Amino acid sequence: MNKKITVLGIESSCDETAASIIQEENGKVKILSNIISSQFDVHKEFGGVVPELAARAHVEKIDLITEKAISESKININQIDAIAATAGPGLIVCLTVGLNFGKTIAASLNKPFIAVNHLEGHAISPKFNSELNFPYLLLLISGGHTQYLLVEGLGNYKRLGTTIDDALGEAFDKTAKIIGIEFPGGPKIEKYAERGNKERFKLPKPILNRGGCNLSFAGLKTAILRMQPKIKNQKDRFDLAASFQKTIEEILVEKTKVAFQMYLNENNYFNKTFVVAGGVAANKGIKSRLTKLSADNKFECLFPDLSLCGDNAAMIALVGLEKFKNKTFNELNFNVNPRWQLDEKAEFLKGAGVKIES
Ligand SMILES: Nc1ncnc2c1ncn2[C@@H]1O[C@H](COP(=O)(O)OP(=O)(O)OP(=O)(O)O)[C@@H](O)[C@H]1O
Ligand SMILES: [Mg+2]
Repeated sequence: MNKKITVLGIESSCDETAASIIQEENGKVKILSNIISSQFDVHKEFGGVVPELAARAHVEKIDLITEKAISESKININQIDAIAATAGPGLIVCLTVGLNFGKTIAASLNKPFIAVNHLEGHAISPKFNSELNFPYLLLLISGGHTQYLLVEGLGNYKRLGTTIDDALGEAFDKTAKIIGIEFPGGPKIEKYAERGNKERFKLPKPILNRGGCNLSFAGLKTAILRMQPKIKNQKDRFDLAASFQKTIEEILVEKTKVAFQMYLNENNYFNKTFVVAGGVAANKGIKSRLTKLSADNKFECLFPDLSLCGDNAAMIALVGLEKFKNKTFNELNFNVNPRWQLDEKAEFLKGAGVKIES
């Protein structure tokens, strides 16, 4: 008889407290529960995430959320085979809450503990709804990261390109803030965009034709800031959101063409799979443009299910499950790593003064 493998995942890297139980049986993975508590109300009046308040909210909620995940899954706590918790990257005070909570459960149940890189969770999140084989090209577009990576296996990443300034999610959030959309505004941009004239505002596309598949969004934000005085009514907001959405889609299409080529040059196995993951992968316009581009280039294009694009603990449990099968466990003295990168060998390429080759 095939044994079921049951994993508890815990996520607290930023402003979502989340816990999930997943189970694999006969090679099929099911999400038995996936509880997410977002802190929008806590941070709303500040227009962004306040780390100390976020950590406090995690402390208040983490046990309730985990209890709910276990009860909703209908499993008995003793059926849990391993506990996986996010160890980085993220806000140190927030990561500490979930990681320590996960370690405590692992110690009390005497079950293996697995420290998970949050970005690896995003990277394999499409595995819940599609067959996902290594190697593949990953475009990670989230609140803190924007990178093209060659993914050769679990824990085996080569960065092909990165943003040299803002992350794409950050660019959506900042644009929303400048044009007066209430926090968290990023996801609302595409709703506004649907009602606007995308040709009205001309926005820059920094380093579009140079720098390989590296990206830059800071100039775009500055241009929008300069246009702010012209934004007087709702129509102006719709038009600027539409122009921004269009510009982002065009940048991603051009940069993805470069990334396809770089990936094919690197990848001897010729597995033409393109994964787009992270919070911004929920954007329908981006999804439709990149899906079409992939089809034109004979790449299979995979996105996570819409409900798993943003932060969640099911994706953390999934990394835990894969590591459990490889028997890759961690000691209970594993520390949080707020800057944990997928490709730790990649050179630091961020901030003013970065020189991008032509
Ligand atoms: N429909 C959408 N269109 C554009 N951006 C979106 C959409 N939905 C969510 N986002 C953006 O996704 C980001 C959140 O993604 P995610 O939760 O993965 O980020 P994070 O966990 O804070 O960062 P990271 O994963 O890099 O640590 C936010 O910046 C949000 O504005
Ligand atoms: Mg995330």
